Amino acid sequence: MAERVISPAETGDDDRFDRLFRPGSLDEYVGQEKHTENLKVFVQAARRRREPLDHILFCGPPGLGKTTLAHILAREMGVTLHATSGPAVEHKGALAGLLTKLEPNDVLFIDEIHRLTPAVEESLYPAIESFKIDIMTGDGPYATTIQLALKPFTLVGATTRTGLLTAPLLSRFGYVMRLDFYPVEELERIVLRSSRLLEIPIEPAGAREIAARSRGTPRVANRLLRRVRDFAEVLGDGRITASIARKTAERLEIDAGGLDEMDRRLLRVIIEHYDGGPVGIDTLAAALSEPRDTVEDVYEPFLLQQGFLGRTPRGRIATRRAYEHLGMTKPTPDQGDLFP
Ligand SMILES: Nc1ncnc2c1ncn2[C@@H]1O[C@H](COP(=O)(O)OP(=O)(O)OP(=O)(O)O)[C@@H](O)[C@H]1O
Ligand SMILES: [Mg+2]
Repeated sequence: MAERVISPAETGDDDRFDRLFRPGSLDEYVGQEKHTENLKVFVQAARRRREPLDHILFCGPPGLGKTTLAHILAREMGVTLHATSGPAVEHKGALAGLLTKLEPNDVLFIDEIHRLTPAVEESLYPAIESFKIDIMTGDGPYATTIQLALKPFTLVGATTRTGLLTAPLLSRFGYVMRLDFYPVEELERIVLRSSRLLEIPIEPAGAREIAARSRGTPRVANRLLRRVRDFAEVLGDGRITASIARKTAERLEIDAGGLDEMDRRLLRVIIEHYDGGPVGIDTLAAALSEPRDTVEDVYEPFLLQQGFLGRTPRGRIATRRAYEHLGMTKPTPDQGDLFP
């Protein structure tokens, strides 16, 4: 995948900055208030009872704060977070290794939890349900299963695709939190907070301009802020103004709606090659030379949420808004057209 400034997925030096910008407590975490208020109650209650938090699942598009929340929860509980990811837990033995290392009330964070193998997932069930795990010992006719008791712990899962989670796994979480794209005002607060951390002088209008072009995504806002800082230092006096932010966005081909070249290409392909759709996701991915997962996880959610893209049983369509945004006119539908 080509490096995109506004790709919500992690790229380049994001990891370092993600850590620097990561809020350390629920109070510092910007937005998603309804959920964070609930999380505060769960943390308080669990601490009072000296029990682990109930298992929690965070789902939503990349860069919205799932990993951040997992770290915050462990910190607010005063326990250690052990991080791994679905594809990294290759077999049951690896899972047993992780689980037996946990101290009481610790957090086991499994990123991309929808990518656990069925065998590993199945052996996770008794662990999260009753803090027990079955371990096989011996070989062939001498093989036996022994049951190990685990210390009570909290499983925190994260996924960009709730749809890919199996029903039995989904049902074992006590709380499922769906993260949504952030409104501009919240991104603005995130940009201002990050500027303070980096000690970048910024005008409120500059922060707003960055926020508006960040695809509703905190990670994108932080990355765009760093690029705008470069332009501010080289082209100006280092201060981030609305005009420098706009200029940076123009140079990076991010338009006023926050769409970049890739987003526009996706919409143009649907419009120009498939008469505005519907076009199946596999065909669309092939036309863009991108893996289907990337199209579904990274590009589509924002375009759908903003109403540029529509989903129908027969595939994706470009909406009137997409035509207008690209300065094109949507042809008047023929009579009997199913997707006017
Ligand atoms: N609510 C928020 N307030 C402040 N900063 C945030 C918030 N949410 C996310 N961020 C910042 O955005 C960056 C990306 O967040 P994070 O790594 O938690 O995303 P993610 O949802 O785990 O993404 P992925 O699906 O790619 O793993 C971090 O640097 C974090 O500091
Ligand atoms: Mg993450």
